[in-house]
Amino acid sequence: MCGIVGIVGRNDATEVLLNGLEKLEYRGYDSAGIYVSQGLNKGSLVKVKGKIADLRAAVHQEDVGNIGIGHTRWATHGQPSKANAHPQSSADGRFYLVHNGVLENYESLKAQYLNDIKLQSQTDTEVAVNLVATLVQKEKMSVLAAWQKMVQLVKGSYAFVLIDRENPQQLYVAKNKSPLLIGTGATFNGVCSDSLALLNVTNSFIELHDGDTAVISSQEIKIFGQKNEAVKRKTYSVTLNQDDLGKGTYPYYMLKEINEQPAVLRFLEKTYLNETGKAVFDSRLLDQLAQAEKIYFVAAGTSYHAGLVGKALIEKLAQIPVSVELASEFGYHLPILAKNPFFIFLSQSGETADSRQVLLKIKKLGYPSLTITNVDHSTLSREADFTVLLHAGPEIAVASTKAYTAQITVVALLAQALRQKLDPDVINFDLKQQLSLAANGIQTLIDQQELIEQLAKDYFSKTRNAFYIGRGQDYYASREAALKLKEISYIQTEGFAAGELKHGTISLIELGTPVIALITDPETADLTRGNLKEVEARGAHTLTIASENLAQSKDQIIVPQIDPLLSPLLTVIPAQLLAYFATIQRGYNVDQPRNLAKSVTVE
Ligand code: G6P
Repeated sequence: MCGIVGIVGRNDATEVLLNGLEKLEYRGYDSAGIYVSQGLNKGSLVKVKGKIADLRAAVHQEDVGNIGIGHTRWATHGQPSKANAHPQSSADGRFYLVHNGVLENYESLKAQYLNDIKLQSQTDTEVAVNLVATLVQKEKMSVLAAWQKMVQLVKGSYAFVLIDRENPQQLYVAKNKSPLLIGTGATFNGVCSDSLALLNVTNSFIELHDGDTAVISSQEIKIFGQKNEAVKRKTYSVTLNQDDLGKGTYPYYMLKEINEQPAVLRFLEKTYLNETGKAVFDSRLLDQLAQAEKIYFVAAGTSYHAGLVGKALIEKLAQIPVSVELASEFGYHLPILAKNPFFIFLSQSGETADSRQVLLKIKKLGYPSLTITNVDHSTLSREADFTVLLHAGPEIAVASTKAYTAQITVVALLAQALRQKLDPDVINFDLKQQLSLAANGIQTLIDQQELIEQLAKDYFSKTRNAFYIGRGQDYYASREAALKLKEISYIQTEGFAAGELKHGTISLIELGTPVIALITDPETADLTRGNLKEVEARGAHTLTIASENLAQSKDQIIVPQIDPLLSPLLTVIPAQLLAYFATIQRGYNVDQPRNLAKSVTVE
């Protein structure tokens, strides 16, 4: 949700910013801009409606400098336009500000402090930058004092970076609820929403806490806490392979990430299972989980769908009841909780604001928590009691693929560890073997791309809507399969419990409506096949994805055999590929679907 990058002390500041914004584009891509300074009162502001490639094209040779800020936007206040793009400047032209987040009280601040100023945009950010200018001009405050006062006046979420044209040697920084890191170098320093943005210039980062402000020059970093007292924050290194950051030979990140899934599963198996097949996690984590009367998964989007699959894994393997909760709902409507609850936050990015508000609430109540995330040092990882990493490598495509299968795998491993702890004699679920079957099975399905591409053409080239149906784990996989298709191809798709369709929604079936059934559970296979017949009788164009042991001659996609508990690891693969090919065939950008962003840091 908006990407920010800033740099001071590099003569190639413009390139560092553009490169950084390209890496942050997954956070939003409706408009973008940079401000670079060429010295006292000299600078270039370049903004475009569009993507970073458009911004690059709009930047001229003379737009250079050794300090600058950049922004890629996902609109909240005001439609995507050049005027609403960031950096936003103060009316006197002195200050330039980039912002990620939402200021809840910007209208009242505008009425109280900025009556005499005619704003040029519809953004809340323009209020913040003018507030700094007003405090400096009218109240004769130093820029730092005005900066810290502005931060106290605004309510809401923000990652802010400001440049003062009259002193273009430092960046003013502030953070609350939205992610922001400082990147450090020997002769330069920078700031960014995600370490990916500065990884080609440094791998050393400092974390900022909510309420922190900072002043950063090429040689010095001063950080202040909530009461403006000087504070020190933790430094850490990020070790990421640069190859992980590019598309390689793939046309889209999504296809690259789909293809990486077998390797991710094998890596997780090696990381969390020892040679004897024992799942190894922090023993304090297992102790606390084992004492839980109920486990609550809290998540959003694809991660929520992984939680739905995880519920059966924990309940069946570890015999602990599990509830799966949508973060945006749960935090504001807390149900009566079980005694000794344990909270597991599933989040690829570790930054989702909806999940974080729940984490803060349950922490206040004193309950224990674990974050399962792909991003070490992310906010949810820092703030939970425990972290387990997904080790999936950066996921850049907005549509999540490898994070989903990694989340299911990690939850399965955790469930196995709990089972082994609670009942050490019972080891009749060979997870090592199952994960190896899953990794091989995913590869087998990926190798059927030609068939799946053709099916995408046959089923999705003209349709307006579609259904995925299934029961049990197949139903939960259907939810994720439907999300994949709708979020990138814009075909309105629902993932439905196969047996529930006849209770109302079947009225939407028309001649040619695609209905895709997932069938991997022997107990319910015949029932789902019956539901397929019902929709066929009403004109539906049906497609079956069935496991080897349940397959019938007319089934179009056969999924290798695996325990039905883990079948979503396989059934989701053709669904990911069907979504991918349908989107290409319909002429849309696979990696950057309209209206979406990958890391959603506003509620
Ligand atoms: C956004 C993304 C989804 C993702 C969801 C939760 O909406 O577009 O792909 O599933 O956020 O993100 P998280 O990082 O918490 O898993």
